[in-house]
Amino acid sequence: MSTRTKLIAGNWKMNLTSAEGAARVESFIQHAESKEDVDVVVCPPYLALPKLSEILKYSSVKLGAQDVFWLDSGAYTGNVSARQLYEFCVDYCIVGHSERRGRFGVMEVPESTVGYFGETDETINLKIQALFKYGINPIMCVGETLAEREAGKTDEVICAQLAAGLKGVHPAEMHLFVAAYEPVWAIGTGKVCDADEANRVCGMIRTWIAENIEVEAANDVRILYGGSVKPGNAAEIFGTSDIDGALVGGASLKPEDFSAIVSAA
Ligand code: PGA
Repeated sequence: MSTRTKLIAGNWKMNLTSAEGAARVESFIQHAESKEDVDVVVCPPYLALPKLSEILKYSSVKLGAQDVFWLDSGAYTGNVSARQLYEFCVDYCIVGHSERRGRFGVMEVPESTVGYFGETDETINLKIQALFKYGINPIMCVGETLAEREAGKTDEVICAQLAAGLKGVHPAEMHLFVAAYEPVWAIGTGKVCDADEANRVCGMIRTWIAENIEVEAANDVRILYGGSVKPGNAAEIFGTSDIDGALVGGASLKPEDFSAIVSAA
């Protein structure tokens, strides 16, 4: 088990209205606040950020967004900037989720996991830089598709994602950075990656950061696992040496499950 403070982030995706989200947070906030040794983050849809920002103003539970645009302002219909997230005290932001990625514009993910948004490694890099500018912690998702895993390309794919996403990043900025290993085939499918294998990949990500950015940054960086994390498998995942928490999708919508995952951490 690592000594880094565990981080549990709930990705609500396109679920819950602002009012429903407020009620969910009220139902687990006390439990989350009582776990002082775990950092808890909720990432609601944009429209719920103002209300949750009010509720979480004095809480140890932090607010996260699910995406960001890389410029501060301008004619970019439908986008939200880091500057605008900063106004609502957003501390974290998911970047490069596989539901938004289409690597280099090519839709490689299975249609069921949705490559609608054409996120590229280049836009991910721009988004990370924009978040650093406002002191917001990016949670950068990396992970392989089933086809890539079966072709033995898991490590190669993830290293390429890291190299492109972290291009030009200075070691001093890395204290804000969070990585999330999310094998595409394990997201929302109920197929969890074996804890030993997930830990091996997270260790590989840490080694990549040590070799390409800085050893100290690699030791301190938090690397989450994401993909069908539930109360029943959380303890095993968190008991490993290189996994520092979880990015939780489906189970984060159920307050009792989310609380149980926080307890497991
Ligand atoms: P899941 O989603 O927990 O529902 O598999 C994880 C994610 O998409 O971040």
